[in-house]
Amino acid sequence: MEIAPILKSQTVQNRVREVGINPNYWYPTAWADEVAPGQVIPVVIWNSAIALYRSQDSQIYAIEDACPHKGVALHKGKVTGENLTCPYHGWEFNGNGVCKSIPYLPKGQKLPCATARSYAAQERYGIIWIFPGTIEDSEKVELPLVPEYDDPKWLTIPIPGHFQAHFSICNENTMDVFHGYLHKNLQGWFSPVLISLKASEASVLAQYQVSYRGWMTKFFGFSEQGNEVTTRTVTIRYNYPHYHSSLEGVSSLYLMRQPVGAQLTKSFSLLFLKIRLPQWLVKPLQKQIAQILWRFVLKSFLDQDTEMIESEQRTYLANPQRRYVEINPAIIALQRVIVGQYEKFMQQSKKLSYGNNGNQVSSAGGVK
Ligand code: FES
Ligand SMILES: [Fe+2]
Repeated sequence: MEIAPILKSQTVQNRVREVGINPNYWYPTAWADEVAPGQVIPVVIWNSAIALYRSQDSQIYAIEDACPHKGVALHKGKVTGENLTCPYHGWEFNGNGVCKSIPYLPKGQKLPCATARSYAAQERYGIIWIFPGTIEDSEKVELPLVPEYDDPKWLTIPIPGHFQAHFSICNENTMDVFHGYLHKNLQGWFSPVLISLKASEASVLAQYQVSYRGWMTKFFGFSEQGNEVTTRTVTIRYNYPHYHSSLEGVSSLYLMRQPVGAQLTKSFSLLFLKIRLPQWLVKPLQKQIAQILWRFVLKSFLDQDTEMIESEQRTYLANPQRRYVEINPAIIALQRVIVGQYEKFMQQSKKLSYGNNGNQVSSAGGVK
């Protein structure tokens, strides 16, 4: 649906700060190199604790981080071949969460039926993704497409993010190009204009015109001197629950969110830049160049955003009833998608709970 990109005041729904996630999407949970073969780490997606491990033969598995015997956190255990062994009594579980061995069970005695919930997990773009919905549903949902990954024309910069805030606040920051004001001391963009806006049940597509001057124009190759004003179009596409933002052929940013809980969100971003250095120099030094750009250029932007995002969250918590005013229709559209996706999931869960004839058949599940 096309929405008129007119800036006029609207009241923000406080409800958007209280909603949970729709678990029927793939969520990033770790950088692939954080989990070596034989290693297990704890991860959390919207309050669900998961033990994520890589078997000795490099397969990724994700099972509930609670032993079916007594509830001990399985990530404190160790990887044995392709299984995960609980640290308490040594029960061993396979990647489907099924108990395969109990060290003290008398020979010939049948194993008890003890299964930890397992999750669909996969590794792509240097990130480990988990699907918090059912394994069956995971087969119907695709990961975000990142065509720039592995394309030698682009320099890849992985960017980690950690925010003490609800995921809706983080997502609004990304959709909100009008906050170039915050980054003025870093010579970020200025004079933003929202030029088009479309929204659907699961997406928001906004285009903004922005201007650059100073080192950014030189860095992106817009001008040689860096003292002219250059105006470009930024396209921001929110496909629930992740982002893609591109600046007319010079940069492409994929921003993937891991909502950990109501007040903690992580992000896994992949920034692709076309930098003006010869390929023979960029290729062997890709990792080092990416690290330098992240530490000395991009991190300053993110630190400024983090401060604003966390401040917003603190004020919200101090008074969840306080009303706010927004004038960017792209933010209002984004909030509708976030609330709508959560409600869609809740309705689906209700239908499942009560069956088609209205009789309750199971509980609604633990995702808020
Ligand atoms: S609690 Fe895990 S084996 Fe006993
Ligand atoms: Fe920012």
